[in-house]
Amino acid sequence: MSEQLIYSGKAKDVFSTDNDSELLMVYKDQATAFNGERKEHIPGKGQLNCKISSYIFDYLIKNGIKTHLVKNLSDHEQLVLKTELIPVEVVLRNKIAGSFAKKFALEEGKNLPEPIIEFYYKSDALDDPFINDNQITSLEIATEDELNYIKDQTRKINQLLIKLFAQDSLDLVDFKLEFGRVNGEIILIDEFSPDNCRLWDHNTHTSLDKDVFRKNQADLVETYQKVLNRLEGAK
Ligand code: TMP
Ligand code: ASP
Repeated sequence: MSEQLIYSGKAKDVFSTDNDSELLMVYKDQATAFNGERKEHIPGKGQLNCKISSYIFDYLIKNGIKTHLVKNLSDHEQLVLKTELIPVEVVLRNKIAGSFAKKFALEEGKNLPEPIIEFYYKSDALDDPFINDNQITSLEIATEDELNYIKDQTRKINQLLIKLFAQDSLDLVDFKLEFGRVNGEIILIDEFSPDNCRLWDHNTHTSLDKDVFRKNQADLVETYQKVLNRLEGAK
């Protein structure tokens, strides 16, 4: 394959392939927090995120969600469909935590009456600012129909994943998704791993996600391995 680096992100590199409609996504052994302000080399992280994300995407695909995943090429590389990125981070919250708790000075942990969806404009230079529906449509980042579809898919994914994680005594607190356009369709892209969600043990409420790194609470690789073990145990 004649691969050329076309994008280097904080957690993944993306390469072109011989096939113009596919890309190679390589998971890095790197963890960042606070918009890259803190960056650490963590051997084994790339492999774990790739395995967890593959497991989740396979489950979502089996349940009717369209994603960019074509196949895994190794334990840290995936072949994915090339899409036109919609530069919006879609966050869904089931419980009060993280920036939502901070913004409204609330204690973490309470269930929200119904899931909340928030959008953030993907821009490292601007530190991913909050953006609302009107701003997204006015700036022609996505149409109203596209936004409605994205929200609908996000809620469906939430219901499927709440069920999956509950089998492993994990509460899905919140998560971030990204979407892209291809052949007139909007599909799920990027990854789903403990880097971009909050998972709390149902009984002890301890974190099994990137908060252990953000807050220096526990070893990241050991924590992510526990998530993978629980998922694989529930097969
Ligand atoms: P927040 O509470 O910090 O806004 O995060 C909400 C969710 O989004 C949480 O599951 C972590 C995820 N997230 C990302 O994936 N990337 C980011 O850059 C941020 C800030 C959050
Ligand atoms: N994703 C951001 C970063 O890697 C922020 C975070 O996850 O805390 O810097």
